[in-house]
Amino acid sequence: MPRSLSCALLLVTALLLGLAPALGQQSEPDKFFNDHPPPLPKEILSDPKLIARGEEIWKDQCAHCHGSRAYPGKAPKLTPRRYTPEFVWDRVNNGFRGMPAWKEVYSPEEIIGVVAYVLSDEFWP
Ligand code: HEC
Repeated sequence: MPRSLSCALLLVTALLLGLAPALGQQSEPDKFFNDHPPPLPKEILSDPKLIARGEEIWKDQCAHCHGSRAYPGKAPKLTPRRYTPEFVWDRVNNGFRGMPAWKEVYSPEEIIGVVAYVLSDEFWP
């Protein structure tokens, strides 16, 4: 093998090895990319069990920021009539600025329960 060719091969190998970690990182899921909402049809959002679980979570975790007795100005008053299920799901799951994300705290089903409760007739912040 001519000397220049083996030099070139060595260079290519070194380049590939150097690139490998970068390529590996690219195939990992992007942690900074928000999750997308699952399908949220009426039949799911009207499930009384999910609504009941959502109400518990609301009282435990949400009311102290959003509830009627929350310190004024801490968090916006919720206006469920103006929300789509996907919007509420996104804010609860992924968080947004001062709004904490709950995806690490609650199961996907519980997050849907919170959405179901906030959009239900029972919701009374
Ligand atoms: C630490 C206080 C805090 C807690 C706890 C909290 N939130 Fe929030 N939330 C906020 C703040 C602040 C915003 C406004 C974020 C923004 O738009 O800048 C917000 C925004 C929202 C919005 C969007 C409101 C809008 O009209 O734009 C929804 C829906 C919501 N929160 C639901 C919830 C639910 C459900 C829970 C409980 C699982 C919860 N929040 C817990 C502080 C909180």
